[in-house]
Amino acid sequence: MTIVKVKYRINRFTYPNIIFIITFPLGLFLIGILLHNCYKTSMAEGKLVNNCVLWMHWIWNHIRNFVTFKFITKIEEPFIVCYYTIEDNINYISLIPNYINPYLCTHIIIGFASVYNCMIDLGNNLNVYKDVVKLKKIHPNLKVMVSVDNNNNSDFQDMVLNHSHRKIFIQSVLNVTKIFNLDGLDLDWEFPAWAIKPSHEKIHFAQLIYELRKEFDHSGQKLILSAAVAAPRALIDQCYEVPTIAEHIDFVNLMSYDYHFYVWYYPVTDFNSPLYPHFLETGYLTSLNVNFSANYWVLKGMPRKKIVIGIPLYGHSYKLYNPSNHKIQAPASGYGDVGYLGYASYPQVCLFLKNGAVRVFVNDSHVPYAYKDNEWISYDDISSISSKAKWIKTNGFKGAMVYSLNMDDWNSTCSSNYTFPLTNTIKDIFIKK
Ligand SMILES: *[C@@H]1O[C@H](CO)[C@@H](O)[C@H](O)[C@H]1NC(C)=O
Ligand SMILES: *[C@@H]1O[C@H](CO)[C@@H](O)[C@H](O)[C@H]1NC(C)=O
Ligand SMILES: *[C@@H]1O[C@H](CO)[C@@H](O)[C@H](O)[C@H]1NC(C)=O
Ligand SMILES: *[C@@H]1O[C@H](CO)[C@@H](O)[C@H](O)[C@H]1NC(C)=O
Ligand SMILES: *[C@@H]1O[C@H](CO)[C@@H](O)[C@H](O)[C@H]1NC(C)=O
Ligand SMILES: *[C@@H]1O[C@H](CO)[C@@H](O)[C@H](O)[C@H]1NC(C)=O
Ligand SMILES: *[C@@H]1O[C@H](CO)[C@@H](O)[C@H](O)[C@H]1NC(C)=O
Repeated sequence: MTIVKVKYRINRFTYPNIIFIITFPLGLFLIGILLHNCYKTSMAEGKLVNNCVLWMHWIWNHIRNFVTFKFITKIEEPFIVCYYTIEDNINYISLIPNYINPYLCTHIIIGFASVYNCMIDLGNNLNVYKDVVKLKKIHPNLKVMVSVDNNNNSDFQDMVLNHSHRKIFIQSVLNVTKIFNLDGLDLDWEFPAWAIKPSHEKIHFAQLIYELRKEFDHSGQKLILSAAVAAPRALIDQCYEVPTIAEHIDFVNLMSYDYHFYVWYYPVTDFNSPLYPHFLETGYLTSLNVNFSANYWVLKGMPRKKIVIGIPLYGHSYKLYNPSNHKIQAPASGYGDVGYLGYASYPQVCLFLKNGAVRVFVNDSHVPYAYKDNEWISYDDISSISSKAKWIKTNGFKGAMVYSLNMDDWNSTCSSNYTFPLTNTIKDIFIKK
């Protein structure tokens, strides 16, 4: 069962409309005659439901369908799925739920809970969950979900192992969604059956999704099920039983970012989340972009209408080895100074630019980078995110996921009086016809 957000929009029609003026009274007149005859025949036959009444019913249905079809169009609004993370060790002031614009997103996914003794464990910040859920009072269509990941010694491995373990988990999820009035669960296991982990995890993960769906549907709570999934081809092949997942999940959040960041074994600058490959890339490298990953998921059997494309609201910073070589694929010697472990939020990037960094937009990949002295940052801004949002619409994907609201400019650092500029960019493009 998929949960589709449907919005009804009444089309405008103009008065006076000559056809309407003629047909409306004529229609009323004909219906009047029919009603009169119906009344007469049903009196004569002495029974209430005769053919005439059935005919009236038939006419009424057609009028109703015509009016619905003509004046009320069903619009499937694309999703804007926003991760909101409960921060701990990031050194700038945290975004608190009160600062979130309730109309910005269609879904807010709160991260991250863990799996402990096969049960979901929300941790110590229960009032943060409650405060985010309160946003639904302002925007009743907003869906608030919880994401469980495998940090904090979260034990997915043991939980998926057999049916009884999974059952304990599912019951604990149903308990928590009911208590906190949450709309669903997001699974963020990075990654089943990957590296040295046993290959049966791939099947067990798909099994977990199947069982969650079954129990969600029986629970009487209208719960949404999603999963954050990998973007690189090797992981997609190794970790996911795509057809089974596709059948039972509402949508997947494609983590189409972190394609490149500083690593010691490949220490060169490159893009966090390019839409397309760039001119220097050949072979395997041409698969490290949003367009490739999304289409690969489709090829493996995930319907486009269940794929939500991930957009990072952070960049990756590098320390340049030689400040005069600041192109893409320039040698780097470590994380940059901006951000935390190379993760730079959008307001931090804005400050970097305000301090004189040079921005270069690479047309091939539809993303910018910026550099100054030893510092080099790949990031997403309003132009790159506009490109991605338009691409999502024209390619028929379900919507955009942002990681994360915390990294957007929620306190007007980039331009005064404008909050959440990146997420708002997506919203503006999705609303436009
Ligand atoms: C981390 O896991 C422990 C149990 O292992 C739990 O008590 C704690 O609340 C968790 N912390 C967070 C932030 O989820
Ligand atoms: C599930 O696994 C646990 C731990 O390995 C074991 O104790 C339990 O008996 C298993 N349950 C079933 C139904 O196999
Ligand atoms: C349900 O969740 C609440 C809050 O997390 C917890 O205190 C309680 O023990 C859970 N109950 C069951 C039966 O799991
Ligand atoms: C995007 O992906 C599709 C399908 O893999 C491919 O045919 C197309 O060439 C790609 N576009 C670009 C610009 O790389
Ligand atoms: C990128 O595109 C813009 C606008 O289409 C153009 O002005 C610019 O010269 C292009 N840059 C490169 C490096 O091709
Ligand atoms: C937001 O920015 C203002 C002005 O720059 C600052 O005074 C305030 O502390 C910031 N608020 C938060 C919650 O960071
Ligand atoms: C920001 O908004 C305030 C209050 O609405 C207004 O007084 C101020 O001029 C605005 N600043 C800018 C730069 O638009």
